[in-house]
Amino acid sequence: MIDACPAKLAIIGGTGLTQLKELKLIKRETLTTPYGAPSAEFITGELAGKEVIFLARHGNPHTIPPHKINYRANIWGLKQLGVENIVAVAAVGGISSAMIPAHIAIPDQLIDYSYGRTQTFFETDDYPVTHIDFTFPYHPPLRAVLCAAAEQAQLAITPKGTYGCTQGPRLETIAEIARMEQDGCDLVGMTGMPEAALAKELGIHYASISVIANWAAGKTDGEITMTEIEQNLHVGMANAMKLLQTLLRMA
Ligand code: HPA
Repeated sequence: MIDACPAKLAIIGGTGLTQLKELKLIKRETLTTPYGAPSAEFITGELAGKEVIFLARHGNPHTIPPHKINYRANIWGLKQLGVENIVAVAAVGGISSAMIPAHIAIPDQLIDYSYGRTQTFFETDDYPVTHIDFTFPYHPPLRAVLCAAAEQAQLAITPKGTYGCTQGPRLETIAEIARMEQDGCDLVGMTGMPEAALAKELGIHYASISVIANWAAGKTDGEITMTEIEQNLHVGMANAMKLLQTLLRMA
């Protein structure tokens, strides 16, 4: 089972995980791509004794909003570095009752509500029109390894769920979340797409550690505050780190 996670693993860190302090630095690389500049330097380092590549999705410091991230440059850069597996860490809102703030979910499905983001590499004369299969947006064996690592680390995670990707950067209205819930979304975030689809286009296995930062709009009384998001991410990201370290120790 652990064969599903060979050495060339990249971690994309989102809100709450701009730096991997535990990473023992090997090298930093600034790449140029045919799609422009990636979000940040690609940092190769050692985590739990294994080599990984880290990329800060929103830049370092955290300045690039979800709709302005150059998803193609990020995924292309990782492919150039020989990455075969991506674990994408993302802060999300919890919609269904199991998705409790500060907890972790490993989603198995997604619905894309974002717009105006370039969704494909295959749109120029260099490529024939290509329709990738996207039945399983998150690589099932990589998800299984993450769930096994969570069990090993004694972390109570939710092993599946449907992630709804909104445009942001604002959070949602109560009515938007009610519609997403009706559609079957358990989680809401802003960066899962087109990241997952672009990874699939380049044949990179992709899975997400979704860290629940808050109850989504309308799921509690009142408004969502930055203080609650920060507090929940503080706990949730520490557990995400524990999960990643256990995953690498098992590999
Ligand atoms: N909505 C969308 N994205 C998010 C949320 C949310 O409530 N919380 C953290 N990322």
